[in-house]
Amino acid sequence: MAYVIGIDASTTATKAVLVDEAGIVRGIAAAEYGFDQPRPLWSEQHSRLWSEGAAAAIRRLLAETGTDGDAVRAVGLTGQMHGLVLLDAAGEVLRPAILWNDQRTEAECEWIRATIGKERLVAITGNDALTGFTAPKLAWVRDHEPDVWARVAHVLLPKDYVRWFLTGEYAMDKADGAGTQLFDLAARDWSPVMLDALGIDPAWMPPTFEGPEVTGVVSRAAAEATGLRLGTPVVAGGGDQAANAVGTGVVGPGTMALSLGTSGVVFAATDAPLYEPAGRVHAFCHAVPGRWHLMSVMLSAAGSMRWLRDAIAPGEAFGDLAEAAGEVAPGSDGVLFLPYLSGERSPYPDPHARGAFTGLTLRHDRRHLTRAVMEGVAFGLRDGLDLMLAAGTPPPAQIRASGGGTASAVWRQILADVLEAEIATVSTTEGAAYGAALLAAVGAGWFPSVEAATDRAVRATPVATPGPDAATYRERHAAYRALYPALSPLFPRD
Ligand code: XUL
Repeated sequence: MAYVIGIDASTTATKAVLVDEAGIVRGIAAAEYGFDQPRPLWSEQHSRLWSEGAAAAIRRLLAETGTDGDAVRAVGLTGQMHGLVLLDAAGEVLRPAILWNDQRTEAECEWIRATIGKERLVAITGNDALTGFTAPKLAWVRDHEPDVWARVAHVLLPKDYVRWFLTGEYAMDKADGAGTQLFDLAARDWSPVMLDALGIDPAWMPPTFEGPEVTGVVSRAAAEATGLRLGTPVVAGGGDQAANAVGTGVVGPGTMALSLGTSGVVFAATDAPLYEPAGRVHAFCHAVPGRWHLMSVMLSAAGSMRWLRDAIAPGEAFGDLAEAAGEVAPGSDGVLFLPYLSGERSPYPDPHARGAFTGLTLRHDRRHLTRAVMEGVAFGLRDGLDLMLAAGTPPPAQIRASGGGTASAVWRQILADVLEAEIATVSTTEGAAYGAALLAAVGAGWFPSVEAATDRAVRATPVATPGPDAATYRERHAAYRALYPALSPLFPRD
């Protein structure tokens, strides 16, 4: 038997997944860790956690599944996007990585907008400047840590540090590259305008590759550390969102992915570099060669349900809470919920946005609050979907949903009615790491294309279709849309 391995260097663990030639997951191992918040708004992690995590996870995966390293034909990489990794000329880490959820760079985002011009910035990179992206983090280091800046020789993203550890090569995939906001989106490579404006030496930036392309092979040192065979090819892979979309088969126009975890993401594959002119949804390269994607990100999706449960029904099972909400009619009897509990990204990139319940009366109980939270999250996701449709994405025939929130049948039906699309779940639940393994399978020559790999490996099962309540929700969504403009002047700004 022959296998490929997908590795995901996420914010909370580095995970390794073993996949066979039929696309079936044969084993999973993970090394967990935390991240540091040395100051309010800061979020950092040492890059060593990912390389050591990858070595530990691969060793354990091979041991627990009784797999010989020789049987692994290729490795694919994915990981948390946007994190800034800085190395000196000898490949030594210069400072802890600044992560995607770090919020220190509001001033640098303003500076980027003012320097490039917002319209031009969005036209080149596909995106407005956001604190999460890598470009403002580089500007922050340039302005606040000149000693570090003076020694920079290589800029990488988290998964590419694992690649450096495994192969000794500096390289990056185009999907994650676009997430730095230093890419020319249409050209699928570094933008001279962006690099020049930020004072970045182009020699710092690694060559970029399409997701299934081989970027190097496992070195002798890495073979000893992991148990993989010396010379095993390592493919470019993709950032976690793009790799997750590959893992759910969302590789071409017409199908979308919805991830309903703590945050909520609506993801559409496109065959042209579409972008939303105000930059309210993200536009990046896909991990599929020659494809792009649009993506809207809600910061508190299933996270809103967790908050509600902890606030009003601590210890209660989510399933019970959600099922009881099914006793309330669509529209929650007039209650609306705004899910901006951690600020928001799409459609309002506003760290000061806040959550709200409106329309409460003495008649309402916790079932109404629960249903209103599920509906409010669905309305927020619909806002993102609408921006993507306006940018030119075809309406989805099917939305492939994953994440904890999709366990609830009540919520799945709300999503189908509000998003007005069939909701399907997929046979594969290992997300981004699985997508990275499929990219490795293409790189190993098992499949002629990413589409051929996902056609073979990913099975989608429809679980909800839009019904007669869609009309009620359209009306409630119009009311929901009025909430943010009305309430935003009341949100605390500091
Ligand atoms: C995507 C993003 C997150 C991180 C989390 O834009 O910031 O999904 O990639 O791992």
